Amino acid sequence: MQKLLIHGGKPLHGEISISGAKNAALPILCAALLTDESLQIGNIPVLRDIETMLTLLNQMGVSVMLSDHNASDITLSAKQLNNPIAPYEMVKTMRASILVLGPLLARIGQARISLPGGCAIGLRPVDQHIKGLQAMGAEISINHGYINAVAKKLQGTRIVFDIVTVTGTENLMMAAVLADGVTVLENAAREPEIIDLANCLIAMGAKIQGAGTDVITIEGQSSLHGAKYSVMPDRIETGTFLTACTATGGEIRLNNTSHQLLGAVIDKLTEAGAQINVNHNQIHLIMNSQPRSVSLRTAPYPAFPTDMQAQFMALNCIGAGTAIITETIFENRLMHVQELKRMNADIEVEGNTAIIHGISHLDGAHVMATDLRASASLIIAGLVAHGRTTIDRIYHLDRGYENIEQKLSILGANIQRIN
Ligand code: EPU
Repeated sequence: MQKLLIHGGKPLHGEISISGAKNAALPILCAALLTDESLQIGNIPVLRDIETMLTLLNQMGVSVMLSDHNASDITLSAKQLNNPIAPYEMVKTMRASILVLGPLLARIGQARISLPGGCAIGLRPVDQHIKGLQAMGAEISINHGYINAVAKKLQGTRIVFDIVTVTGTENLMMAAVLADGVTVLENAAREPEIIDLANCLIAMGAKIQGAGTDVITIEGQSSLHGAKYSVMPDRIETGTFLTACTATGGEIRLNNTSHQLLGAVIDKLTEAGAQINVNHNQIHLIMNSQPRSVSLRTAPYPAFPTDMQAQFMALNCIGAGTAIITETIFENRLMHVQELKRMNADIEVEGNTAIIHGISHLDGAHVMATDLRASASLIIAGLVAHGRTTIDRIYHLDRGYENIEQKLSILGANIQRIN
């Protein structure tokens, strides 16, 4: 199994480009299921989760054409959909497989999707996806671990989510674009990835208003057509590099990204002492002091993202002062704390809250990644630690960060992948 080896203590300096957003690309790939014409998508990150989604779509009958010139350009054609099944083997490796449910029901009126189980960060049920599709007229039964769904024609209706859910909002938005009549999604998620998916659907002929607010109105169309669309930059990858440099010190410039996606994160990094300048597609960060501790509470967008919580935990380990981090989205997303403590971090956990007393430095150690963002947190800790850090189970990292060790090496980090 591969591991990452980091020799810490070097500040980051230099310039890199940010990749397309994993969590926007995944639903946009599923949008290809909604039309029999081709969907050409650019700025797709080269990641394990994207590979898994392409394999799943391909098994359903979608043709996948990769560009010879650019690994991030992909053309999908769902002219023939002959196998609307997401098997257990796929869903257990990637929960975002559930995103095929809405589009399959809308386009061909049937889907059989393995029910996702709990995962490393929480229970993560999909009851809101199911409840919404049932309200639109789908008949759904769960047996032998599978969601079996059929619908003659989905009907537009008003759906109020009990809880703010990102993929739930995306699934129902994709279902509604081909439904009869108007669907109104209330208490919808407002994440930028929802806006990106809506813009792609609009380019395909969908009528959607209000994406990015908590009320989204979708007027169903009889069909959608092909389109060409480019995925937004990855705000979590951007935030991870900015946090890494705030922890190590130094000066970095990130290209092909947008500060507008990262309001709450940039505010917290500024509070920690980073100097940040932005223009339309670049972010420039300078850090030349020990970071100040920053407290935060995760919540749905536009508040502080749960996907940046672990990285800020690592930053606070070496912050001046004491920080309190509260995780409100997932029940079990503090697993990285035990690993950071192996590096000498001073953290106490009470329920979903961590109290971090900053210390002058971490010690390199052998640690284990427990999920994608926990892996990023351990990398940041390794970059600031004295001595050598080895991170196991980095397959989590390959699901969501494109070439992270190459990008960090360009910025001067001493990091390598070993077998
Ligand atoms: N929830 C329910 N019922 C549902 C759906 C969600 O109770 O039917 C609960 C979840 O258990 C959780 C909360 O609602 O406690 C929010 O979950 P949400 O559905 O918003 O999460 P998700 O859509 O499964 C996406 C991202 C995650 C990110 C979360 C929160 C994708 C593919 N995944 O997950 O990304 O953490 O939104 O922002 O978009 C990551 O990239 O590392 C990652 C985990």
